[in-house]
Amino acid sequence: MSRLPASAPDSVGAAFAHINAVVSPTIDDLKLMVFLEASGLTAYEDLARSAPNAAIGDLLRANGREELAHAHRLSKVIRQLTGEDFPPPDAGVNPYATPSGRAVDRQILEYLVAAETGGNDLYEIWASHTADAEAAALLRQNGKEEIRHAERAAQAIALLDA
Ligand SMILES: [Fe+2]
Ligand SMILES: [Fe+2]
Repeated sequence: MSRLPASAPDSVGAAFAHINAVVSPTIDDLKLMVFLEASGLTAYEDLARSAPNAAIGDLLRANGREELAHAHRLSKVIRQLTGEDFPPPDAGVNPYATPSGRAVDRQILEYLVAAETGGNDLYEIWASHTADAEAAALLRQNGKEEIRHAERAAQAIALLDA
C-alpha cells in the first residue's frame, strides 16, 4: 500500500500550502500530490451532496472523478521516474480525504475557479522543471484538466440561480 511520506503535513490545508510553493517537485512531493489529488474525489463528492440542483451536482462529481484520475496519472509519473509502484490510496486510509462540511454557494465555487486555474499553473511549472519528457507530458495533461475543472465550476456558478 502507498504510504504518505513522513514529511507530509498533517492537514489538507497545510499540504496544499506546501505543494503550492513547490517549483521542482521531489518524489516525496509527487507522492504527497497523489494523496491530495485522490482526496479531491471525496471533497467534490461531499460538496456535490449539497448542490442546489442536479446539474451542479453532476459538474462537481465529474471534477471529483477526474481528481482521482489525476492521482492515477501522478502514480504513472512516479513509476516513470523511479520504477516504484505508488497507486492512489483508498479514501479510508487517506488522511486528507475528509469531508469539509462546506455547502455549495457562490463563494466556494469562485474559490474553486481560482484554485483549479492555479492548479494548471502549478502543473505547468512542474512540467517545465521535469527533464523526463513523458513525465512532463503527464503533468501537463493534469494541468489541462484543471482548467476544465475551473470551467465546470464557472458553469456551476451560472447554474446557481437557474
Ligand atoms: Fe487534479
Ligand atoms: Fe481539479
